[in-house]
Amino acid sequence: MKQKNISLIRSYLTPHISRLLLILFLLFLFSLISLVIPQFYKRIIDCYIPNQEILPIIILLILTAILLFSQKYIDYIEAKLSSNLKRNVFIKLKKDIYDRIQKLPLNYYLNMSSGNIISQCIFDVENSQVFFSNTSLVIIRDLMFILILFPFMLVLDVEMTLATITLIPVSFFIYNRYSKQLIMSGQQLSEKIGDYTANLQENISQIKVIKTFNLHNQKAHEISEKIERVENEKREIEIKSAQYSMLSVITSIGLNFIIWGIGSYKIIIGDITIGSLIALIHYFNLALQPFSRIYANVLNYSRTAPSLHRIAELLTLDEEIKNNDGIVPQKTNWNSIRFENICFSYSSSEVANIFQHLNFEIKENNFTLIEGPSGSGKTTLFHLLLRFFSPQSGQITLNEIPIEQYNLYDYRNFFGVVYQESFLFNTSIVKNITLFKENIDPVKLEEVIQMTGLASVQRQLENGLETIIGEGGVKLSGGQKQKICLARALLLDASFIILDEATANLDGDSEIEIIAALKNIVGKKTLLVISHRFPKELLQPDQLYTLGAPAQVE
Ligand SMILES: Nc1ncnc2c1ncn2[C@@H]1O[C@H](COP(=O)(O)OP(=O)(O)OP(=O)(O)O)[C@@H](O)[C@H]1O
Ligand SMILES: [Mg+2]
Repeated sequence: MKQKNISLIRSYLTPHISRLLLILFLLFLFSLISLVIPQFYKRIIDCYIPNQEILPIIILLILTAILLFSQKYIDYIEAKLSSNLKRNVFIKLKKDIYDRIQKLPLNYYLNMSSGNIISQCIFDVENSQVFFSNTSLVIIRDLMFILILFPFMLVLDVEMTLATITLIPVSFFIYNRYSKQLIMSGQQLSEKIGDYTANLQENISQIKVIKTFNLHNQKAHEISEKIERVENEKREIEIKSAQYSMLSVITSIGLNFIIWGIGSYKIIIGDITIGSLIALIHYFNLALQPFSRIYANVLNYSRTAPSLHRIAELLTLDEEIKNNDGIVPQKTNWNSIRFENICFSYSSSEVANIFQHLNFEIKENNFTLIEGPSGSGKTTLFHLLLRFFSPQSGQITLNEIPIEQYNLYDYRNFFGVVYQESFLFNTSIVKNITLFKENIDPVKLEEVIQMTGLASVQRQLENGLETIIGEGGVKLSGGQKQKICLARALLLDASFIILDEATANLDGDSEIEIIAALKNIVGKKTLLVISHRFPKELLQPDQLYTLGAPAQVE
């Protein structure tokens, strides 16, 4: 766990090394000024007050004022640099996380709920700020400051200084006791927040079902349980942190005892001067601040390390695309696609073998129809063809070349796809058809709109194709959504059109419209229709395959 976290932090902070060094330098400058000022006080009390020298006292006080002002200014510059650093690191980290999530294989999404992924993008990133800010530098500075402080204190009094060193193992013991518990609680908290976000996200997206079946109370109960779990875990962490800071008081009690107990005794026996004690008190106070800051920061590290680890894990997951330099498939004259001896099962599926030695061929510019009952593996065929999953054995070839050898982006561009479920963006109809491309030929667009029967939809809606369709197209009917998806696939310059149950949601008239649209492309493009019920009497396929149960081509 530690190794991954460290290399993640290193990879994001290394590009900013010069800024980090500058921040470290400023932090030191700030500390050095703190070291000088007590020496002035000692001189004033031990030398100038007894000798009644007013002028040096005034000079030292003015110098102190100048130093204190410079210190504040250095502090301001350091804060500005640190915020810039944090901003840059966070922009990159958030973009990288989004980018990685987009490039992960489909399998990842099947096993993770979207709410959990969103929680990783938001909660874990915010939580791990402490690792990418100036906190680590402050810890380094504080540790070094304490080290530099010791010689100054040793000069004033050896015994009192050495006594303070005994406090270090005590603090370490206390930290060790609590850090493990905090790491565990931090881990549980980030999991519970993920779980809660997932549930919330599902309930919002499934609101129609919840309303239809009156599931409000049940869902509210579920959510309130999850909220309670999150808040309980937060409370646990806060209580543990409070216990920890309570125990860390032992160090300040120790310091007070050393200062006032040993210090007063030493003045009485004439071992040290009052000026030395005042300077020592200042130094002790200076040491106390870094001590408690180190406590607080290290505590923060323990608490948020699990979030950082989740991010590190995510960023090291394998991307879907490994062969960026793969072959680019030719759009025409590609002869055939073949499924050769394909055996496949989803690893998590209860159906042991969805395909066993499946063989079939799709020829260029032919219309191939694959039929089969529900659950026979029709959509699965689709997944294999689009390389969302790989078969356990056998191979799929395009032009006699295994499809894995093609560049994945170009390979997927080869297909114009209409899924069984309509996937639509919450924007206008036209943008859903053009997929946000700007340079679309208006004549071609119009042709596709006419072809898919969207012209009648356009007339029905007040804003025509500029209508914003709501999340997932909630403002449209199932058939309208499917027409948009078909138009989208036809508008692409793909020479291979695939439809997975694309006429399933259509009424008789719309189905006839779509079949007419398909007739237009038969012979010009390759058409693969996967369906459990296709009106063959309206459009005769060149090849017909039937998937039985278990899925076998007959
Ligand atoms: N991601 C998955 N993980 C595990 N099993 C899956 C997954 N997707 C589908 N299955 C299983 O694989 C089998 C085939 O599913 P598939 O979706 O290919 O059927 P289909 O023929 O398209 O059915 P329908 O006509 O209902 O769409 C089913 O038994 C299903 O439970
Ligand atoms: Mg299906």
